[in-house]
Amino acid sequence: MSEQTTTDNGSSAKKNETILSGMQPTGSLHVGNLEGALRNWVRLQDEYWMYCCIVDWHALTAEYEDTRQLKANVFEVAIDFMAAGLDPEKCAIFIQSEVAEHAELHLIFSMLITVPTLTRLPTYQEKKDTLDSYGFLGYPVLQAADICLYNAHKVPVGKDQAKHIWLAADLAKRFNFLYKKTFNEPEALFTEVPLILGADNRKMSKSYDNHIPLEYTDKQTEKRIKSFYTDPGKLRKGDPGHPEKCPVFLLHQIYTPGAVEDIAPPCKSGQLGCVDCKMRLVANLNEALAPVREKRAELVRQPDYVWDVLATGAERARQRAAGVMDRVRRAMKTDYRKAKK
Ligand code: TRP
Repeated sequence: MSEQTTTDNGSSAKKNETILSGMQPTGSLHVGNLEGALRNWVRLQDEYWMYCCIVDWHALTAEYEDTRQLKANVFEVAIDFMAAGLDPEKCAIFIQSEVAEHAELHLIFSMLITVPTLTRLPTYQEKKDTLDSYGFLGYPVLQAADICLYNAHKVPVGKDQAKHIWLAADLAKRFNFLYKKTFNEPEALFTEVPLILGADNRKMSKSYDNHIPLEYTDKQTEKRIKSFYTDPGKLRKGDPGHPEKCPVFLLHQIYTPGAVEDIAPPCKSGQLGCVDCKMRLVANLNEALAPVREKRAELVRQPDYVWDVLATGAERARQRAAGVMDRVRRAMKTDYRKAKK
């Protein structure tokens, strides 16, 4: 993938814009990641120059003490990216720490932002009682470096990341103002998906253990769906339900064509019981995930190939990053030997 040439799959219609997307290596991804992010990234790889970064340094902000899981988690995320349809021919898939320039730009950006700006962010406020390291405070600055290092125009994220993208744009603007116009001001590209809730009716998340991992078998998926929260007022078939408040119905809306006409009315009237409703979801969900799971199983058997993809991705990312960092040094007049005076 190079900026000058077109890809050989006929997708020469790529906009001349760059996307940077990032995800923490939390291990096997789940249905929430798939429907909330990855499906969208897969569409975007045909339209934009795309860099998909597995942000292992960001994961270190919380997991610095025990790093033994990191390698396995990075691997799982890489295979889930590809199983979902990210194509290493169309986008660069790479590990953040393999492109040292992320740390370099992070350091420079850290000069351009005040501590109170960072301590005010809700993401910091939420965790500061348990996590108050220098590195955690700088989490959004590193994220801004991830984005600006590729001079990205757009960043596909969930709404919870809006402030971080705004902060990246602000840092880009400030750098441009102080030194020389170097960076695009990146914009968030919000995904239009309903919030995906997990078994306990909270946001689906591995940390809540309410998720449906892509690596689950059909049987494990069935067990998880059976454990899902449903309308507490609907105890048995015949009781009227409230699909608009039910996390199972949210998933039906994604996986069951015609859910609004076929699932909601019989749930409301009581004709459709929760057990039957869940079993219909299980069948549709397993069918939709089958190709992802197949591809995943295939990749698990080829670890060398997966690590090669990540090495090639890092190579491409480094090329792009090196060009941007040259411009950064020129703008700041820290390209001492090359500078004219
Ligand atoms: N903060 C993001 C999250 O928690 C992860 C992330 C790190 C990211 N760097 C990024 C997302 C760059 C987009 C772009 O989801």
